[in-house]
Amino acid sequence: MAVNNDVLVKINSLKKYFPVRSGIFLRAKKYVRAVDNVSFTIKKNETLALVGESGCGKTTIGRTILHLLEPTDGEVIFDNKNLTKISKDELKELRKGMQIVFQNPYTSLHPRKLVKDIVGEPLKIHTDFSSVEILRRVKETLENVGLREEHMYRYPHEFSGGQRQRIAVARAIILRPKFIVLDEPTSALDVSVQARILNLLNKLKEELSLTYLFITHDLAVVDYMADRVAVMYLGKVVEIGKKDDIFKRPAHPYTRVLEAAIPIPDPFFKKERILPKGEVPNPVNPPKGCRFHTRCDYAVDKCKELEPQLEKVDDEHYVACHRWKEI
Ligand SMILES: Nc1ncnc2c1ncn2[C@@H]1O[C@H](COP(=O)(O)OP(=O)(O)O)[C@@H](O)[C@H]1O
Ligand code: SF4
Ligand SMILES: [Mg+2]
Repeated sequence: MAVNNDVLVKINSLKKYFPVRSGIFLRAKKYVRAVDNVSFTIKKNETLALVGESGCGKTTIGRTILHLLEPTDGEVIFDNKNLTKISKDELKELRKGMQIVFQNPYTSLHPRKLVKDIVGEPLKIHTDFSSVEILRRVKETLENVGLREEHMYRYPHEFSGGQRQRIAVARAIILRPKFIVLDEPTSALDVSVQARILNLLNKLKEELSLTYLFITHDLAVVDYMADRVAVMYLGKVVEIGKKDDIFKRPAHPYTRVLEAAIPIPDPFFKKERILPKGEVPNPVNPPKGCRFHTRCDYAVDKCKELEPQLEKVDDEHYVACHRWKEI
């Protein structure tokens, strides 16, 4: 395998299908094709935002990269090691370098554990540090995320949503990982708190040289966070590129519709929300050809038959649409 020192995470033709049990014998015959042949890379110290409507497969990609879910097919390369081909012990070792912050800080923290134990747990599992050393590191890490020593001896319910997400971030960084999947880390929080958490994440990224996969359905926060953006639709990446290309020169009809729906924070400029018309199709039986054709204003016969592949628009900018040059 060629070693590329700029790339931290690479996924090749990744698939994750979930069996759907149906019929009286509950035999799995059909599959939810949650992630269906996705490839991309994440460079060291960059934030790749993964955007798309609810149910398009964002969380599944994040968890499959971390091997919290076993891939159905395809490869995940992390730090030049193929996670699909290594032993359990090697995977456990590499896992130290990859962490996740979940969407909902109200359910992701153990309700009956003290903060010191929640944040210190990864050190307990992965190191043989003494309890004094673990406490010292927990204190230091809480300070890194804007909390204080006294918070160590409290339970999660004593904190606000924003503070709980700081605790979750502290747990994610305590092993000094290289890579963190941030799965909609602010979508359960009040708008006033969101910006502070996003700022904290950006500060930590700089201080600790982190690389992020930032999952969100909200394009407004992508601007704060992303270097590059991957747009997903029904288990596929339909467009990927640098943030400016995706925002200023979107090539895919779906990306354009998503962007037209970004709320504009100016009360005198009311932009109509034009979300894609119609329902998201069922990922058990995705439409043939281009999966977006049932909702696309530009669809022609070819789109119903032939699946478009990602093709190059520009430097680092790729789109999967038969008609991107004409529309
Ligand atoms: N454990 C599971 N079993 C069956 N289906 C699942 C499971 N997890 C996710 N799915 C399905 O996979 C698709 C993608 O889900 P998800 O990755 O959670 O999307 P997103 O994070 O973009 O909202 C959805 O149709 C969802 O219902
Ligand atoms: S391939 Fe066709 S249906 Fe799909 S996005 Fe492009 S124009 Fe629309
Ligand atoms: Mg999700």
